[in-house]
Amino acid sequence: MNALTRELRMFSDAIEQKNPEKNTGAGDPWRLSYHVMPPVGWLNDPNGLCQLGGVYHLFFQYSPSNPCGALKYWGHYVSTDLISWEYTGIALYPDMPYDCHGVYSGSALVENDKAYLYYTGNVKLSGDYDYIYNGREGNTALAVMDKDGTISEKTLLLKNTDYPKHLSCHVRDPKVWKENGRYYMVLGARTLEDKGCVLVYDSDDKYSWTLENILEKEKPFGYMWECPDMFVLDGAHILGFSPQGVDQEGINYANIYQSGYCVLEGDFTGACELKTFFEYDRGFDFYAPQTFEDVSGRRILIGWMGMADCDYANPTVAHGWQHCMTVPRELRFKDGRIYQTPVQELEKLRQSGQTVNVKKALTIKVNPASELYMDFGKVTEICKEAGTDADVKPSCEAMKMVIDGSLILSYNSSEQSFTMAFEDDPNGGNIGYGRTSRKVSLERLKNMRILLDTSAIEVYLNDGLEVFSSRMYPQAGQTLSAHTVAFVDGRGELTVWKLEL
Ligand code: FRU
Repeated sequence: MNALTRELRMFSDAIEQKNPEKNTGAGDPWRLSYHVMPPVGWLNDPNGLCQLGGVYHLFFQYSPSNPCGALKYWGHYVSTDLISWEYTGIALYPDMPYDCHGVYSGSALVENDKAYLYYTGNVKLSGDYDYIYNGREGNTALAVMDKDGTISEKTLLLKNTDYPKHLSCHVRDPKVWKENGRYYMVLGARTLEDKGCVLVYDSDDKYSWTLENILEKEKPFGYMWECPDMFVLDGAHILGFSPQGVDQEGINYANIYQSGYCVLEGDFTGACELKTFFEYDRGFDFYAPQTFEDVSGRRILIGWMGMADCDYANPTVAHGWQHCMTVPRELRFKDGRIYQTPVQELEKLRQSGQTVNVKKALTIKVNPASELYMDFGKVTEICKEAGTDADVKPSCEAMKMVIDGSLILSYNSSEQSFTMAFEDDPNGGNIGYGRTSRKVSLERLKNMRILLDTSAIEVYLNDGLEVFSSRMYPQAGQTLSAHTVAFVDGRGELTVWKLEL
């Protein structure tokens, strides 16, 4: 540990200790129940996701000193069950000449009881620079963590001068994996001509890396691709990435920055093609997701439930913190698309489930941490079989539900679209804090699973084919005792659970 590490540790420890109430949520209605959030300050991308010696590790981009973001560290949470997470402190400090302006995003490779933590060392030179084409370093570096959590000295692996000449200074976010006995790394990049792309490197020793390929879309797709991720899912090669600079097209790419995936056909180290880009999530707050494979062979994704540079707000800033993660989601690939489901472990949080057939307007109060599952197929069957309900309509002709008077989830069958929209509550207020509406095309609505937390919502449609994630801020200034859920239209079998850690 050098003198800078010691100082940074004292500084961040003092900030975390000065804000103990942030860990208990006293006086703050929006501290989350089962979503991971920063102890204090700012959180963005999930980093270094892995399972090592039975422990799940979730590192994250962390600025303890400022809820609006500042110098980036890797904060560290651990869990044995993917549901309850323990904060263990800061794992990586910006304490080397090659990472002194931020330990940026990266990933973990687990081998022989060690996690190899690959990350980007951000450096901004002092001077009159634009920091895109000049004045910035995006160094690729490595730190090694033992099973007991001890992290060794860092090693610098690649510098900007090692990257291809046609790239800008923006090269970052290494994701490393092993396939067929070789190590591979993808890095996100921006060319000098402002085209997003992904660099593919390989290695036989984890330390020295050779450029093998550059992946691009046939037609330019944004100016920068952040946080690339490559994995095999149910036989398909997938490239996930977070492109910046993609123009909105109708209801698609509605956020300022996107996150999604393409199926990669061919050889990723040689001739290959990136097929259609699909957005992972259609809500307001989702970016820079990362996946990993756990020992049971599941491919698990965690996304940052936040968005940079957007025009909507998070009033948690006044309480000294901002942003959270999505719950871990298991991915499956079927008929050309990725399906996302909250990991099965989350079902352990379910308490006292109640099932009702919703046939007409209905308003219920649910716990601040709740899960709702609505099956739109079943009620039609039930009614038809019993022959009791003469005017039963085809399953889910229309659906509208209003949460906390202000968040509207609706399905329009003639348009074949699902919408998440924040509107002003007739009683005053808008829990969206500037969030407006987002939409997806959906041929039919079969089922809807909602994970509600004090200030976060994840909506999974049709077994996770489409997902909407958003922050929401009901009951400013008061302790949140319940969410109000009003079914205005739509029929289905509804099950509600209180969720408890
Ligand atoms: C994505 C990102 C990454 C970068 C990190 C810095 O949100 O911009 O590209 O490594 O955040 O915090």
